[in-house]
Amino acid sequence: MKIAFVGKGGSGKTTLSALFVRHLVAQRLPTLAIDADINQHLATALGASEPESAALPTLSAHLPLIKTYLCGDNPRITSPDAMIKTTPPGVGSRMLAVVEDNPIYTACVREIEGARLAVTGPFTEDDLGVACYHSKVGAAELLLNHLLDGPGEYVVVDMTAGADSFASGLFTRFDLTALVCEPTLRSVAVYRQYLRYAQDFDIRIAVIGNKIADTDDLDFLREQVGADLLCWIGRSGHVRASERGQTRPITDLEPANRTALTTIQSTLDTIERDWVGYQRHAVRFHLRNVAAWAGQRGDDDLTAQVDPDFVPGLRQVSA
Ligand SMILES: Nc1ncnc2c1ncn2[C@@H]1O[C@H](COP(=O)(O)OP(=O)(O)OP(=O)(O)O)[C@@H](O)[C@H]1O
Ligand SMILES: [Mg+2]
Repeated sequence: MKIAFVGKGGSGKTTLSALFVRHLVAQRLPTLAIDADINQHLATALGASEPESAALPTLSAHLPLIKTYLCGDNPRITSPDAMIKTTPPGVGSRMLAVVEDNPIYTACVREIEGARLAVTGPFTEDDLGVACYHSKVGAAELLLNHLLDGPGEYVVVDMTAGADSFASGLFTRFDLTALVCEPTLRSVAVYRQYLRYAQDFDIRIAVIGNKIADTDDLDFLREQVGADLLCWIGRSGHVRASERGQTRPITDLEPANRTALTTIQSTLDTIERDWVGYQRHAVRFHLRNVAAWAGQRGDDDLTAQVDPDFVPGLRQVSA
């Protein structure tokens, strides 16, 4: 199951992504963490040092490998080069399991304190003026579109701040979008903006209150987001300690905050993936993307990449 942590800048997306990943890893559950944020901090939040984090291989640097592998022998894709970030899988495409040996994971996934992590890569000065971050997260979008995650398997994605993620189809790839919300008007405004974008796409949003200090904070959030408030995390000494470089075991997290992580997990566990709808969204975004790019990519008709009968699902892995 796929979960994204989104919300206002500084609301706690990276912190909660890392806590949730560590909560899953402590249960030895199959988990893949992906840092898709322009500011790449998930590795350090998981316990890597700055130099370790800076030395991680990136998905965007391995885009040719990713395309070649995922394209497989799908006859609708004329060459790996013809794959764009929204190219949906079809018969012949290589699908990925959350945990397996494959060339993409070998090149791009590293373990940090037991957590498996892939990072999109930071936005560098070289990118200024010639690329936007959406082209970097394209590698993550391709990966998510080709991932066959089943119940009890988790893909946790730390996303860019605000509504930037709507610039790509990435935001439709999740079973649950955890909107991290501080008890402030500005954080709530981002929640409202997300709701507006999400309403057309069947996006399941749960608000996770963060940095809740007292009942005033909680009352405010309840009043603002109503039943969308799933659970909340208080100001945490455990989190503050990790900011000081003291990473404590997740089992030492304050009990109320651990309960919140359990609530997020059990909510995710009750969701059933509708693979048909999932693929339909992928195709819809691909066609939209192709229409927006028309004429910019040579003669290839990228709409022909859509395999109308293909539905990704666990059965196709073993077939
Ligand atoms: N529950 C919490 N208790 C104490 N400190 C917290 C808590 N949640 C987040 N913080 C602190 O708030 C700051 C911002 O958190 P974080 O980096 O996770 O936010 P973010 O939404 O990922 O930010 P960005 O938009 O920059 O990616 C960090 O210093 C973090 O340690
Ligand atoms: Mg962050």
